[in-house]
Amino acid sequence: MTNKILSEESLTLQAPQHIKSQTNLSLDEYKERYKESIKDPEKFWDDLAKKELDWFEDYTQVREWTYPNYQWFLGGKLNITYNCLDRHVNNGKRNQVAYIYVDENSCEVKITYGELLEKVNKIANGLKSLGVKKGDTVTIYMAMTIEQIASILACARIGAIHSVVFGGFSAQALRLRIEDAKSEIVICSSYTQRKGKKAELKSIVNEATKDLDLVRKIIVDSRDENFELFEREVDLQDLMSKQSSICKPEVMDSEDPLFILYTSGTTGKPKGVMHTTAGYNLYTHYTTKMTFDIKGDEVFWCTADPGWITGHSYIIYGPLSNGITSVIAEGSPVYPAPDRFWSIIEKYRVNIFYTAPTAVRMFMKLGKEWPKKHDLSSLKILGSVGEPINPEAWIWYHKHIGLENCAIVDTWWQTETGGHMISTYPSFDTKPGRAGLPMLGIEVDVIDKEGNSTKVNEVGFLVIKQPWPSALRTCWGEPKRYEKYWTEIEGFYFAGDLATKDDDGYIMILGRADDTLSISGHRIGTAEVESALVAHKAVAEAAVIGLPHEIKGECIAAFLILMQDELTNEQQSLSIKEKVRTELGSLAVPDEIHFVETLPKTRSGKIMRRVLKANRLGQDPGDTSTLED
Ligand code: WTA
Repeated sequence: MTNKILSEESLTLQAPQHIKSQTNLSLDEYKERYKESIKDPEKFWDDLAKKELDWFEDYTQVREWTYPNYQWFLGGKLNITYNCLDRHVNNGKRNQVAYIYVDENSCEVKITYGELLEKVNKIANGLKSLGVKKGDTVTIYMAMTIEQIASILACARIGAIHSVVFGGFSAQALRLRIEDAKSEIVICSSYTQRKGKKAELKSIVNEATKDLDLVRKIIVDSRDENFELFEREVDLQDLMSKQSSICKPEVMDSEDPLFILYTSGTTGKPKGVMHTTAGYNLYTHYTTKMTFDIKGDEVFWCTADPGWITGHSYIIYGPLSNGITSVIAEGSPVYPAPDRFWSIIEKYRVNIFYTAPTAVRMFMKLGKEWPKKHDLSSLKILGSVGEPINPEAWIWYHKHIGLENCAIVDTWWQTETGGHMISTYPSFDTKPGRAGLPMLGIEVDVIDKEGNSTKVNEVGFLVIKQPWPSALRTCWGEPKRYEKYWTEIEGFYFAGDLATKDDDGYIMILGRADDTLSISGHRIGTAEVESALVAHKAVAEAAVIGLPHEIKGECIAAFLILMQDELTNEQQSLSIKEKVRTELGSLAVPDEIHFVETLPKTRSGKIMRRVLKANRLGQDPGDTSTLED
């Protein structure tokens, strides 16, 4: 069956009939329920919290909303790992597979809900034996493995706050995050697989924690390696082997912190976005269920890494809370062959596949013959996340991966929102390039600076009008930075994205309104890159802009004024790029380095990146009246 194209100009596609007829929610039902959910959000979330989660003790109040702060399910007691593991094990799912892990050599490991619970408990007991208590922070810097997921859950089991750092970040970036979170414990893997090679993680941890007395213990998953451990280091397998496989879940208050996740803002220092237990549990559970139309026996594959929010919410907590089977694949999507992903989908009969536009564009470039070699007929829903998906990539995804027989859900959300905020539920009509409608219970608008709704198709700021259960509660140690989300435009949650709304209320995301970039769907602040650049001894001043990039969506161009007598040659460029790699990590390395004499600045000294960008792209720079020179 093929999707019917309703109208060429605005390209609207109907969901495949077989999905429409079986889905949990039709568009008409949504419209009805949406109205109710917005009219009385407390009732809406109250009903869901009672139905979808298991509680140790009931809450006494659904929401407390004292602008700009809020709490959800006050007084309730629960543990997210109970909802993710125990309740399934106790309800006949002990032997159901929770994760299928595949490495680059196609070696697989399957772990059932029962086995995962035992592993989590052993690590949890191990952490306790090292003195970790409820409220302590633990930094996790690991390869995408079952051990990584179990370590994250082990923290949640005992009420420790996890702070996962993506394995692509440099030693400097890791150190900053360990120090900011004040983690006395770090859990790491010895290495991660990357294109047939071992990418060292342990040595990066060594460098990051050198002379860092704050860190008491480093727990190492040695994998297949054998190396000498130093005084404060503990082997993960050794630690587990000494522990009981029973660990009572810590009784957590609804509002007890669950994790911190660092994300880029507009200043050099990343923000530690903090999420709490009950609201996040409910929201990730519910959005997984609704966006991906979960019935309970699906095989789900979210290709993100748990080092990002997408992995937290849609590899770990959302899928587990719903009791489904997930695939995780360590290493490169195109190694050992460009069809690695498609062979995994075929082999494990994946039903739901969730990836980023940058990956779709990469596969597009590799050619349709690679997916064509495989039976992809198990697929039902295809998801997209991280950046706007251009219509061309959308259509390719729909045709060559979905075989015109899947629903595509383009999910807009953020580290701060915890879960999906805008998308189309699978039964809805879709419009390639437009993310869609607000999720149930979420009141979204596009407004101008004064807070007035913009007209149809007029560009404005994307805002959310009321707090939702998984909204960030604070920025770790920086409450003022948190408040900015709600005070940038008084009374609204300011997402930082530009958007438009069409006649049907479908929202199109146009990109960031602030100085952050989206490189392969990963958020990087221009200020972060600029501080890494000026950390190079030859660089006096730096300005960074994002440029359109065929695969990555956006790439980085750096404009640099060098110190006197420094050479402006290729060697210098390479050395500066290397500096960014060690300061921040390879994903922040500029594609272009330009040596310049001056930078365009306003009279008050602010760099006008907009002018640099227009210049580089040969476009009109617009109003330059505030330009100094
Ligand atoms: C962008 C990732 C368009 C957006 C989950 C947002 C998107 C930022 C989409 C958050 C999408 C995410 N369409 N843009 N479907 N999803 N974005 O915190 O600019 O890493 O503000 O969370 O990514 O990035 P973050």
